[in-house]
Amino acid sequence: MLGAALDIFSKQGFEYLSRWGHVVVGITWIGLLYYFNFVQVPAFGEMEAAARNNAVDKLASRALWWFRWAAAATFVTGLMILGFQENLNKMSYFKTGSGIAIATGMLFGITMFLNVWGVIWRAQKVVIDNARNVQAGGEANPAAAELGRKALLASRQNTIFSLPLLIFMVGTSHFPYNGLDLTGGKRGLYWAITLIVFAFFELNALGIIGGFKPGGTNLMYDTHKNTIYTGLAYSVLMLIVFAVVFAV
Ligand code: HEM
Repeated sequence: MLGAALDIFSKQGFEYLSRWGHVVVGITWIGLLYYFNFVQVPAFGEMEAAARNNAVDKLASRALWWFRWAAAATFVTGLMILGFQENLNKMSYFKTGSGIAIATGMLFGITMFLNVWGVIWRAQKVVIDNARNVQAGGEANPAAAELGRKALLASRQNTIFSLPLLIFMVGTSHFPYNGLDLTGGKRGLYWAITLIVFAFFELNALGIIGGFKPGGTNLMYDTHKNTIYTGLAYSVLMLIVFAVVFAV
């Protein structure tokens, strides 16, 4: 009986524990992402400047600490699951239905992680420093508002990505599809569609396509409701692309 309990100290046990840890830190990250987008941004928009600066200093700075480290932990535990799996011993895993699903989920997840550390946190550091400086009676930094907008777009895009990401993270082991046709041509078609749509979204969020102004291709970031609808539509699209391209 004890022998069975000790099975947790095996490769499979460590994979299981990494999976548990991954979901814990994943919900911490994405929960805070949704808090920022659905609660904090609309609330800050209605607050007086002095109250907002105080909230950025005392509240947003703390939320951002949990947010960015949860993102890092999600990334690391995700790689740990992959590392403990037998699947990774053969690169042909990425030609199977599960392998294609997790590669797609990881494309979203790793991009979101890079958006957190490379765009959102870099910009928010300046926004927090500015709020603290103004509270202490210093001059406002004119660059802070633009950087705040840059961070907002990346954050809204991460909210959009989070929905199709879960389609694939969960789908890897639990998609209800059997007997897919995964020939090279179909895989090529799937990746071409997936990467083109993904690149459009990410380049748009970085301001490379649509710039940082509201409207146009940024309509989907203008309100959190637009962001949610876009994320849901994108999830349905990706589910259809996967199921239809690989249909036998
Ligand atoms: C940051 C990059 C990420 C990487 C590299 C990654 C990697 C992985 C891997 C390898 C799996 C195992 C798939 C399988 O074989 O069943 C997985 C599952 C999963 N991931 Fe991620 N992931 C990332 C981000 C996220 C995020 C942001 C979430 C959001 C909560 C998330 C939630 C999940 C869930 C719920 C599962 C399924 C667990 C299960 O069904 O047993 N992942 N991820």
